[in-house]
Amino acid sequence: MCGIVGYIGSRDAAPILLNGLKKLEYRGYDSAGVAILDNGNIKVVKCKGRLEKLEEKVNCDAPVGNIGIGHTRWATHGEPNDLNSHPHISSSGKIAVVHNGIIENYLELKEFLAAEGYEFVSDTDTEVVAHLIDYHYHGDIVQAVITSINEIEGSYALGVLCRDYPDKFVAARKDSPLIVGLGNGENFIASDIPAILEYTRDVYILEDKEIVLLSDKEVKVFNNHGLAVQKKVFKVNWDVASAEKAGYEHFMMKEMCEEPKVVRDTVNPRIKDGNIVLDNIRITAEDLKNIRKIFIVACGTAYHAGVVGKYIIEKLARIPVEVDVASEFRYRDPLISDKDLVIIISQSGETIDTLFALRESKKKGARVLSIVNVVGSSIARESDDVLYTWAGPEIAVASTKAYNTQLSALYLIALDFAYKLGRIDRDYYSKVIEELKAVPREIEKVLANRDIIQKFASQHYNAKSIFFIGRGLDYALSMEGSLKLKEISYIHSEAYAGGELKHGTIALIEEGTLVVCPVTQDSLVEKMISNIREVKARGAVVLAIAKESNKQVCKVADVVVTIPDVDSFIAPIVAVTPLQLFAYYMALQKGCDVDKPRNLAKSVTVE
Ligand code: G6P
Repeated sequence: MCGIVGYIGSRDAAPILLNGLKKLEYRGYDSAGVAILDNGNIKVVKCKGRLEKLEEKVNCDAPVGNIGIGHTRWATHGEPNDLNSHPHISSSGKIAVVHNGIIENYLELKEFLAAEGYEFVSDTDTEVVAHLIDYHYHGDIVQAVITSINEIEGSYALGVLCRDYPDKFVAARKDSPLIVGLGNGENFIASDIPAILEYTRDVYILEDKEIVLLSDKEVKVFNNHGLAVQKKVFKVNWDVASAEKAGYEHFMMKEMCEEPKVVRDTVNPRIKDGNIVLDNIRITAEDLKNIRKIFIVACGTAYHAGVVGKYIIEKLARIPVEVDVASEFRYRDPLISDKDLVIIISQSGETIDTLFALRESKKKGARVLSIVNVVGSSIARESDDVLYTWAGPEIAVASTKAYNTQLSALYLIALDFAYKLGRIDRDYYSKVIEELKAVPREIEKVLANRDIIQKFASQHYNAKSIFFIGRGLDYALSMEGSLKLKEISYIHSEAYAGGELKHGTIALIEEGTLVVCPVTQDSLVEKMISNIREVKARGAVVLAIAKESNKQVCKVADVVVTIPDVDSFIAPIVAVTPLQLFAYYMALQKGCDVDKPRNLAKSVTVE
């Protein structure tokens, strides 16, 4: 949540900051601003609204200078308005700050600073940081930032500009992501790599409580005691094009079209001579025998991948699995011990609740294996074992391709564990591996047939409420389909287990209610057909997602979107694509901003 950038070098800072913010808008987009050191004074330009509004404002009255910081906001403290936008500046005009995170003790600090004569003009927690650094500043800005962050409780990624430093600026982080881009005669900070990729591929990934002093030629990193820290340069191996729209109208469509490739990239390199080889995961057959329970913990779409994970790991490896949303898990004093394995799933690797759930698990002695998309992210770094999903940068706020790769990773894990434990035989193991390898081709077929979904959406986009019902793995899939629809089309929607519908929710079905039914589980087709008949009898319009060979569903559903005849067990990786396309086209028809839905942000780095 919130994106920050900073620049120091010989070029004009304003266009570089604006350009960087454009790449970070997925993190928040209710207001934006920049602060630039302009002829010895800090000049701030900021406003409510999307980045285009800030660009217009900057173009009218551009601050001129080669050193600056910028911010795109997802409001936590204080409504989105001009005053609450970042950067915030201290009363003396000496210090400007951009911040991502939450300062938990800001009220206490505010009271103290107000008593010291500082005037507050915004409702934000961040303004406290600007005044606090100003209060502690006695000529050494690094020391002032260190003293301040040692007093701050909560999470932060900070960019700090000081009027007295015409050729340097400072940054710091704790529990919110921040990287340093190392250029040639210029240096950068950013919340995420795409913001600086146009200028450099060499980055430092900052650890918690590290402070950086940047000049055009030098980057010095300190710990919170002021001691110098040696950092390793991390080389980014993907390019700008992977974070661009490449001719697609929306990132979301581009990312769905990438699903065949990213599933292939995630699965194929892990199959060697017919065996699954999970990178550096060091969990042996002996370790697996001693695992009492697996906990899968995640948020949002990653959580829904975890629900599929529970079904498949239990089915194949016969280890009991609990799946939980991270924000609940971390506060419920979960019964975990060193006999348990915790699987953390996260696209960004930075979701704060997920990161804290990981720390809670480690504190209780559990081993943590994470499935993460962003290399070098906090979750990846703090886990015992990491299995990367190779989805590439995902920019659309609504996650699509990352989900397919998370499922792919979970299938690999389930198969590997089951085989090592002797719970499945070689033939079955090899058969499922072959099916997984065929998934990219099957998704390509689904994408090629998307017209039927587009047509259906053009006829039904006015729906007020939509139900998704499914059984077994199709229930897990329904949850994700329903979330996707809500996120980007703002249509109310609920996912229900087919058998549970008649215990209450069926009361909401009336003439014309839209019901979406994935029917991909062969052993449950009859049961689902009964459910479809039940809702049809009450006036529902049914859109089914079924395998080509399933002729029974065509007789009861109004419209059937077919997927190839894949094995029911791996069907979710293929069958999710029509549900994502359905959400996309419904949102598009309604005129919604598909890539940047209201109130949401992609990377949730605050609680
Ligand atoms: C936000 C995003 C979702 C994502 C969830 C978890 O809510 O909008 O798309 O699924 O966070 O994010 P993570 O990066 O941990 O997978």
